[in-house]
Amino acid sequence: MDLYEYQGRELFERHGLPVLSGGVAETPDEARAIAERLGDRVVVKAQVKVGGRGKAGGVKLAGDADEAVARTADILGMDIKGHPVHRVMVTVTVDIVEEYYLSYLLDRANRTFLCIASVAGGMDIEQVAAETPERVAKIAIDANAGVDEAKAREIVEAAKFPADVADQIADIAVKLWRAFVAEDATLVEVNPLAKTAGGRVLCLDAKVTLDDNADFRHPDHEAMVDAGPVDPLERAAKEKDLNYVKLDGEVGIIGNGAGLVMSTLDVVAYAGERHGGVKPANFLDIGGGASAAVMANGLEIVLSDPSVRSVFVNVFGGITACDEVANGIVQALALLADRGETVTKPLVVRLDGNNAEAGRAILDGANNPLVQRVDTMDGAAERAAELAAAGE
Ligand SMILES: Nc1ncnc2c1ncn2[C@@H]1O[C@H](COP(=O)(O)OP(=O)(O)OP(=O)(O)O)[C@@H](O)[C@H]1O
Ligand SMILES: [Mg+2]
Repeated sequence: MDLYEYQGRELFERHGLPVLSGGVAETPDEARAIAERLGDRVVVKAQVKVGGRGKAGGVKLAGDADEAVARTADILGMDIKGHPVHRVMVTVTVDIVEEYYLSYLLDRANRTFLCIASVAGGMDIEQVAAETPERVAKIAIDANAGVDEAKAREIVEAAKFPADVADQIADIAVKLWRAFVAEDATLVEVNPLAKTAGGRVLCLDAKVTLDDNADFRHPDHEAMVDAGPVDPLERAAKEKDLNYVKLDGEVGIIGNGAGLVMSTLDVVAYAGERHGGVKPANFLDIGGGASAAVMANGLEIVLSDPSVRSVFVNVFGGITACDEVANGIVQALALLADRGETVTKPLVVRLDGNNAEAGRAILDGANNPLVQRVDTMDGAAERAAELAAAGE
């Protein structure tokens, strides 16, 4: 999970790293309150999980609270590389005399950890790395030894940090490593790590990626997860633990296995070109063990999408055999009827793989007028697109 800068800033603060005081605002009024509390010139920064905010106009200085309000109004609602801005962070400003770069990350290729450090930090660090790589030091970090005082001195030396900031940077390097390990991060990046006119070194930005595999060790990380999808169907699907993504077409899709569902989207899109341009309405992978309950939940979500006019259930029986899935579909339709949700949209079902014949027999036996069985993937996609084009 990538963190927002303000979450990274709080994490840095908890680990004793020098950060600026500030707060997060979702409205200009909230930004005013923070600016008034800080009582000085402030910087207003877009909170999006993408780099290059400064260059996109997402980082603005403000001389007083009124200006902070105006800059916040400018930045909220901006779109930065496809990421809409819903929040800004407001912090005090500092007079920067030098901008450095410091990060730790998991170096997968070399099966180790890596420190990247540079005296030429700031918004052009990518360019520096590309054009003058000798100004960017890369120091391998042994996972067991980590970064102690001596290793921190090695980093300072390798990156040629000036003598007057060496002690501060060594201290930051040790603390940043401790944060990296303690939080099970795969990336912690400070850019800029700034030297102020007063000679202090401060973390002015915080980019953190946490390792989701270690979530079980960090119950507190849960609170940093995004509020979640805003699409109501996606939210409802998430509550039912379904792997669902809303798309903008008319053919509802249910399949078992992400790869199968992805290719189902393709064949339906192709078939749709021959039927008035209908398209897939969603991605929904109900996974391997497609029980009746899961199938019912999936159907319920897909059928509650008002743009859906037909549904294509595409199942390849594997460990969960087709007869089980067929029973699941039949029971799911009964379950939905019990829940008082009358199904009126046609379902095209393709069953193949393990126990396909038995599965098909079960569907035929149930004789539900809404269910049509087509035994090839292309044929079923064609039929589902045709029904969607015909239906209203
Ligand atoms: N508190 C501050 N006071 C003064 N200047 C600041 C402050 N915070 C940021 N800046 C300036 O704004 C620039 C951009 O800030 P920041 O590094 O946070 O954004 P960015 O690097 O463009 O975004 P990203 O890191 O997402 O690519 C910094 O390099 C620095 O010069
Ligand atoms: Mg930055």
